[in-house]
Amino acid sequence: MAERITIKKPDDWHLHVRDGAMLKAVLPFTAAHFGRAICMPNLVPPVVTAKEAVAYHERVRAAIPEGSKFQPLMTSYLTDNTDPNDIEAGFRDGVFTAVKLYPAHATTNSTYGVTDFKKINPVLARMEKIGMPFLIHGEEADPDTDIFDREAVFIERRLQPMLKNFPGLRIVLEHVSSREGVDFVRAHAPQLGATITPYHLMLTRTDWLGYGNRPYMYCMPVIKRREDRDAIRRAATSGETCFFLGTDSAPHPVSRKLNTVGVPGIFNSPVAISLYAQVFAEENALDRLEAFTSLNGPKHYRLPPNTETITLERTGWTAPEEVEVDGPDERALIHRGGETIQWKVVAA
Ligand code: NCD
Ligand code: ZN
Repeated sequence: MAERITIKKPDDWHLHVRDGAMLKAVLPFTAAHFGRAICMPNLVPPVVTAKEAVAYHERVRAAIPEGSKFQPLMTSYLTDNTDPNDIEAGFRDGVFTAVKLYPAHATTNSTYGVTDFKKINPVLARMEKIGMPFLIHGEEADPDTDIFDREAVFIERRLQPMLKNFPGLRIVLEHVSSREGVDFVRAHAPQLGATITPYHLMLTRTDWLGYGNRPYMYCMPVIKRREDRDAIRRAATSGETCFFLGTDSAPHPVSRKLNTVGVPGIFNSPVAISLYAQVFAEENALDRLEAFTSLNGPKHYRLPPNTETITLERTGWTAPEEVEVDGPDERALIHRGGETIQWKVVAA
């Protein structure tokens, strides 16, 4: 009989579902496998205020397939001018689950991000006071910082002081991508946690650039060395509660990925849970999969785990190559689409 594993339903603590036709096309993949997801606010224009988040939440809810119990969790895109009172009111009303920091110019749709870190201190103080989680795209966007060092430099220059100045603020270092990042998170848990993507667990920069330039492996933070990937694999499969699932599934139309200047982001929600299971199986750690996918994240967010379950089986299946999108965006290619995927969701 095929190998099977049943775990509590996972949550995706880092997801981009976009808006409009793209939202309609991609959200069903997440709703099929995940109980909840942190919906990142980097739309154009971004979701900043509680009022904007209520409207976005409505649009996301409208894209959930009928009968699904999936719950989208909303975030506020932090700017230099964010009003702490609006954040607090949004959190108390259950509109916002967290606030997300994008350093200006660090990634897709980050032009409205933070330019002056002194200015955000009042918001951080308020979040510390009310117990609201703070999510960080942890990369220094200063042009003098080498792209492969952006995470390590951000940690030293920005994250370390924030942890010290706001000891009661619970932080997530999103999509940790380096050995330095993993070590830092471990050393500062439980105040600090980290999400880990399926692609940072599997790819090296040699996969990305060593056999031709593969734009569909281009993401922020960029894929790093084998040593970094191996440190991330050890962290995810260790069972340590500070590491948890966040797919960073980030769909883009083909025309924007395959452009003279291509955009970062890997659309992986259709295959994400299967890839995580593969990694844990390869590391002989399937007994720790549930902690990573379904328990550690809720613990950091102080939310109860899901009660439903999902079952995966070691059975080869072929992921679809792309998803059709209405309108001028036309289609988005799926990470590992057209390839044989080793683990399959057989009940959810
Ligand atoms: C994300 C996107 O496309 O919105 N891209 C990415 O490469 N991860 C933004 C982000 O999370 O950095
Ligand atoms: Zn992201």
